[in-house]
Amino acid sequence: MGKEPESQNTFTLINDKTGESYKLPVLDGSTGPSVIDVQKLYAQTGHFTYDPGFTSTGSCESRLTYIDGDKGILMHRGYSIEDLAEHSSYLEVCHALLYGDLPNKQEMEKFERNITYHTMVHEQINYFYRGFRRDAHPMAVMCGIVGALSAFYHDSLDIWDPEQREISAHRLIAKIPTLAAMTYKYNVGQPFMYPRNDLSYAENFLYMCFGLPAEPYKVNPVLASAMDKILILHADHEQNASTSTVRLAGSSQANPFTCISSGIASLWGPAHGGANQAVLEMLDEIGDKKNIPEFIKRAKDKDDPFRLMGFGHRVYKNFDPRAAVLKKSCDQVLENLGVSDPRLELAMELERIALEDDYFVSRKLFPNVDFYSGIILKAMGFPTSMFTVLFAVARTVGWISQWKEMIEEPTLRIGRPRQLYTGPVARPYVPMDKRK
Ligand code: SDX
Repeated sequence: MGKEPESQNTFTLINDKTGESYKLPVLDGSTGPSVIDVQKLYAQTGHFTYDPGFTSTGSCESRLTYIDGDKGILMHRGYSIEDLAEHSSYLEVCHALLYGDLPNKQEMEKFERNITYHTMVHEQINYFYRGFRRDAHPMAVMCGIVGALSAFYHDSLDIWDPEQREISAHRLIAKIPTLAAMTYKYNVGQPFMYPRNDLSYAENFLYMCFGLPAEPYKVNPVLASAMDKILILHADHEQNASTSTVRLAGSSQANPFTCISSGIASLWGPAHGGANQAVLEMLDEIGDKKNIPEFIKRAKDKDDPFRLMGFGHRVYKNFDPRAAVLKKSCDQVLENLGVSDPRLELAMELERIALEDDYFVSRKLFPNVDFYSGIILKAMGFPTSMFTVLFAVARTVGWISQWKEMIEEPTLRIGRPRQLYTGPVARPYVPMDKRK
């Protein structure tokens, strides 16, 4: 990244108790909200900022992805998600996130060849799977397997070497579908399928998941196209929980494979990427349209931990543009497969009722990316437990691109948040025989 963003403006902070005032520089981005630079606040005032959940905190400067939650805008390197989903391919989006722009023909051929020829994994990794129970949750397996990649690729762990950063990024983007497919095959007790270099990224993934050594596998072009679109829609999303986890892990100079493994761990949570699995489980629990009012009531009840999964978003307060694209794709996939999933009708009725209910409207809780994705993935033949793994496959390029951007900053510093301490103040040690 270049020099510090220019400061054209300042905020004055006044301590009403002491009358002291402090000028804080305002930094402007290329679009979106400006930021108040508080890096020197503690040195100047002896105070920290306080923002649990980081609702008003920018953790970094980035050029990858921009979201306008009020307008439902999502763009990668300036390209709208609608345009990318309509006209681009996942590997093109990977190139744009990694290198800053969509590739020209030569760049695309070179990038695609690099990724294709890194899809195989070290044969020894096959034995790793045998240590897991067959019924282990696929995300548990992925956390372990991806973290273990750093035990294999000693030649690309030096984060200060640009070539090693690039090869690690290519290895992760190329191998994550292979590992995800192996995780699925291990879970269902079928043999691993080796990647095929004659298939596209999405076709290869479907082949490795659903192909069998006993017979030829014919990729359904509609499913391959839908898979590629799903990957594009989940590729990156600013500083969400899992991306922030990857950045914080990377700020300690940990190797990229373990950083991506930490992102997978964070994504697993049902409040984050685990929501796509939770949406299907919720729809199955609701079962019938007549039960919707009871679940809406529960979602509003503060004493009930139940939340309407697939609804709400920290940033989108209008609509999640990815949900709109996925809903359209859902109809196409179900029609092509001749599948009529009653859960789709149930989901649409749930959305209709929720969006007429003031509780959801007043809190700007709209369907997010996870609300429809599970229905498509189910129709494609994936078990619910694999949904978040697919999210991780897609998001790996976002994580590694954000990691690469951070490492390439001239001012890389370890992330070290502070706190508001409200625990016991200093007190003497009490010997056991004196304790109550
Ligand atoms: C992803 O950050 C990203 O970009 C994430 C993501 C990405 O691409 O990386 O977009 C992917 O994680 C999408 C979100 C998937 N999660 C879910 O669908 C789980 C259900 N949603 C909620 O858990 C929640 O909406 C969050 C976690 C998504 C957002 O939580 P926030 O921003 O912290 O909001 P909040 O919990 O402060 O809620 C504000 C109010 C509260 O009510 P009040 O205290 O004001 O009365 O809205 C209520 C909440 O109780 N609320 C919900 C609700 N979500 C929020 N009530 C019922 N159902 C819900 N789903």
